[in-house]
Amino acid sequence: MKKLLSFAVIGLFAIANSSSAEEPDLSKLPDPIERTIDFARDVKPILEKSCFGCHGAKPRAKSKYFMNKRQTTIDGGSSKEAAIVVGNSAKSPFIHFSADLIKEMEMPPIDNRKKYPKIKKTQISLLRAWIDQGAKWPDDVELSLLPAE
Ligand code: HEC
Repeated sequence: MKKLLSFAVIGLFAIANSSSAEEPDLSKLPDPIERTIDFARDVKPILEKSCFGCHGAKPRAKSKYFMNKRQTTIDGGSSKEAAIVVGNSAKSPFIHFSADLIKEMEMPPIDNRKKYPKIKKTQISLLRAWIDQGAKWPDDVELSLLPAE
């Protein structure tokens, strides 16, 4: 009985611990690049290659996070936490996850990196600049599902 109780306590602790937001180490984040970002040219190819395979078409989107439109990409999914804080990339989970700053929430997930390549430092700099500059996404630009490399 005592053993059972200690398991229960450990279990509860694990649950409490996992729900508390992990503080990302922002010193590991590459700086945003200093130029004007063009969504279609700079950002879209990264999302299509590394994210959209799992956060694209409706029935397949992981964590109910759909990255096909600007607003859904900002809003996030089942976590109910905004994925993008427009104008503040350092506060955006989208960036924390892509830069592997949060354990168990690395995006793309570590197990899937053969199919969905890791986001490079230069790409993080670019995605940061995009968010800092207002996460602009013209209405007529849609994401398409490209075959993974
Ligand atoms: C191989 C599939 C896969 C790919 C590719 C992928 N993700 Fe994810 N993503 C997931 C899964 C699974 C979850 C849910 C993880 C969890 O909650 O434990 C998730 C959750 C998320 C969330 C949290 C959504 C919410 O509010 O619940 C964000 C933000 C996110 N991913 C961003 C990205 C970004 C940015 C990329 C591309 C750089 C990406 N993901 C690529 C599988 C993927």
